[in-house]
Parts: sequence; C-alpha cells; structure tokens
Amino acid sequence: MPEPILNISKLEAFYGDFQALYGLDLTVDEGEVLAIIGANGAGKTTLLRSIAGLMRNGPDQIRYRNQPIGALRADQVAARGLALVPEGRQLFPSLSVEENLIIGGRVGRKGPWSLSKVYELFPILDERKHQASTSLSGGQQQMVAIGRALMSNPDLILFDEISLGLAPIIIKDIYDALPGIVGGGMSAVIVEQDVTKALAVSSRVYCLQDGRVSLEGASSTVSREDISRAYFGIE
Ligand SMILES: Nc1ncnc2c1ncn2[C@@H]1O[C@H](COP(=O)(O)OP(=O)(O)OP(=O)(O)O)[C@@H](O)[C@H]1O
Ligand SMILES: [Mg+2]
Repeated sequence: MPEPILNISKLEAFYGDFQALYGLDLTVDEGEVLAIIGANGAGKTTLLRSIAGLMRNGPDQIRYRNQPIGALRADQVAARGLALVPEGRQLFPSLSVEENLIIGGRVGRKGPWSLSKVYELFPILDERKHQASTSLSGGQQQMVAIGRALMSNPDLILFDEISLGLAPIIIKDIYDALPGIVGGGMSAVIVEQDVTKALAVSSRVYCLQDGRVSLEGASSTVSREDISRAYFGIE
C-alpha cells in the first residue's frame, strides 16, 4: 500500500462569515493522480487554495509528509514541494513567457525540471519564450502556468480546472503531457469539470458538494449513478 503524502483532516475554510468547507477529510497517496470533481461552488478551488497556503487553516488540518503545513504561507508551502497551477492561470502579464517560468524556479528546489525540460515538454513555449505571456493563446498560457509550477520542482502538483475554456486539441496536448509530468514519481491533484476525463487520468476520485466530500472511490469502479448523486445530491 502506498503511503499518503498529504493528509487533510477536518478541514474548514471561510470567506469572512461564509463557510466554504465543512470538516473535509482527504488523502493523496505517493505517486498517484487524484481527481476532484464537483459542481460550481462546491469548494474545489478553496480546497486547492487551502493546500497551497492561500487560506488560513490550522496547522494540523493539512499535513504533508507527516509535517503540519496548514498554517504555512504560500511561499513556505512551495518550498516544501507543493505547487499550484491556479484557476485562470494568473500569469504576470507584463513579463515574457520565459520570465514567468523563471519566477516559478525561484523557490530554488533541486530536481529534474528546468527551462529546457519545460521547453521539451511544450515546444511551442520555446518558440514563444520572448513574447509577452498575454500574447499567447489560452492553451499556451495554460502551458506556461503548468511550466511555471514545474519549475519549482514539486513533489505534489495541484491543477485547478486544467482544461477549462481550452480547445479540445489543446486539452489533448496538455493531457498527453501528463504522464511525462507525473511519470517521475510526482503526485498530482486534478480539479476537472469533465468527469470522463477526470476518471480516465486518475486512480482515485473525490466528489465535493457544498463544501463536503460526497463521494470517494477508485476511479475505475465508481458508477455514473453514484457520481450523479454525489454531484447534485439527487436521492
Ligand atoms: N473570495 C470569495 N469570497 C466569498 N466567497 C467565496 C470566495 N471564493 C469562493 N467563494 C464561495 O465559496 C464557495 C466555494 O467556492 P470555490 O471557488 O471553492 O468552488 P469551486 O468548486 O472551485 O467552483 P467552480 O467550479 O465554479 O470553480 C462558493 O460558494 C463560492 O461562492
Ligand atoms: Mg474553482
């Protein structure tokens, strides 16, 4: 049995008075691709933001390799080897493609990823490296966001809406790159609206509903009926 590298226990999250997560429990195993699905507003982004150090949490609500990380800042979490590819990409618009990638490497972690490795993974970025990141297509910008995360040489990479709004051909390119990303033993958490895609690329899946886990199981065995129920709460 693989050991969980990430243990989330009774996680709660708030935006002011509004509670977005309610006592959520979740684990990520070493080397696995875990999918998170759920309707709009279910709490998927809030969960990834919590892991990445962008929400306020108790130290032990999130443990990484048996260390409490729940109360760490985003830069401290990144230094431990967790990287977020955020919803909406959030590139630095005034910087070039290459400058955006270099920023990802600033945490200074050693590992297999470098500019040349990212360009090998996404050759179009090599061609466009001196262009402003905003001059790229949405799909190419998503590649920059993924490359920027890889530049920090993470052990665990978190993808929020990896394919939202992208053309099918680009989605295929990005998913084709996934084995090359996680093949070296990296673990991944993927938030994905496309349930078929989410199940195809992951070993386990969690469905969130209104800030709670409504379903957890092996991606190969969960049924469509279970997922519909977990998504919409239809009994
Ligand atoms: N900055 C914010 N301020 C107030 N409430 C927020 C904020 N961000 C999210 N929320 C609320 O928290 C809940 C969870 O939102 P979250 O963005 O985590 O959901 P999601 O599952 O990622 O949804 P989507 O599929 O639309 O991306 C929603 O009810 C949302 O309206
Ligand atoms: Mg979201």
